[in-house]
Amino acid sequence: MRVAMLTGGGDCPGLNAVMRAVVRKGERTYGDELVGFLDGWKGVIDGTIRPLDVEAMRGTLPRGGTVLGSSRTNPFKIDGGVDACKESLDRLGVDALVAIGGEDTLGVAAKLHELGVRVVGVPKTIDNDLSGTDLTFGFDTAVQIAVDAIDRLHTTAESHHRVMVVEVMGRHAGHIAAWAGIAGGATMTLIPEEPFDIDEVCEALRRRHAKGNYASIVVVSEGATPTEGSMTLQTGEVDAFGHVRLGGIGARLAEEVEARTGFETRQTVLGHVQRGGTPTAFDRVLATRFGVAAIDAVHDDAFGQMVALQGGDIVRVPLSVAVGTLKTVDPSIYEVAKVFFAG
Ligand code: F6P
Repeated sequence: MRVAMLTGGGDCPGLNAVMRAVVRKGERTYGDELVGFLDGWKGVIDGTIRPLDVEAMRGTLPRGGTVLGSSRTNPFKIDGGVDACKESLDRLGVDALVAIGGEDTLGVAAKLHELGVRVVGVPKTIDNDLSGTDLTFGFDTAVQIAVDAIDRLHTTAESHHRVMVVEVMGRHAGHIAAWAGIAGGATMTLIPEEPFDIDEVCEALRRRHAKGNYASIVVVSEGATPTEGSMTLQTGEVDAFGHVRLGGIGARLAEEVEARTGFETRQTVLGHVQRGGTPTAFDRVLATRFGVAAIDAVHDDAFGQMVALQGGDIVRVPLSVAVGTLKTVDPSIYEVAKVFFAG
């Protein structure tokens, strides 16, 4: 079989590990020829591919990013984009496609499958907001990076008796913030799922600092929002999937906290640092399991399915389920974080 892969959307530690596993099992067990489309769906539209064999993937297990490149191209938003995709797949003799991506990339895969494209999905996003899977690879790495940063911020915050606002990624769901907040011992964690009241945030910080020589760490998800009318926010550009480019809540929050409480406050935006560099051991294992399962799914004709982690097992779920609704933070996790708020 000629099997093609693509990586779409924001890059994520573990992408190469998935492809390495697809290639290894595809080539050695099934005798497949593996190729990769460059830069996500853009490569499918343009018909730009490169061969991916075991030799090409050597040494890539610990390497962040993606050897194929990525983009946020949406063929359904480009005139003739869908036809161009189908034409490329036919012309290049691609028998099956493995699409590795988040809600946008897999949303395109789901629609193309309805149009007859033989595609299997692999769930990727540091945001961990895809339904149908307990975890996406890349999330564990992003949380670890955020926790390492928070650990460092604690000591400088304590030295200066400051409030440190740490902005982490997560535009619609606060998984990174919730986990990093718990693991990093945050004073408060603000997530998109629960709009925050700036008065309450400041009051909690005042109570905490009144107890003595205190410092505080406030972890805020980039998509967190204040309750209506309580604080103004900036808005950003919109991408091909209609997402606003976020960033800025950390700065606004730090400004507001300092103005309202008088506590010296600084902000740190972790940004794309959370997506870069080597995957954790957990993500390498998860990505490898997903890759092996994806090529097995191809050979089982399980098209229109996404491989997923459920209760420790690798299973298959329809792509439509994975992209149907966003997986938000389980309230019970946020309740755990709250136990430690401003204590
Ligand atoms: O891939 C998900 C994500 O990292 C989000 O957490 C973040 O909002 C977005 O991508 C940033 O996108 P870009 O890399 O296009 O700035």
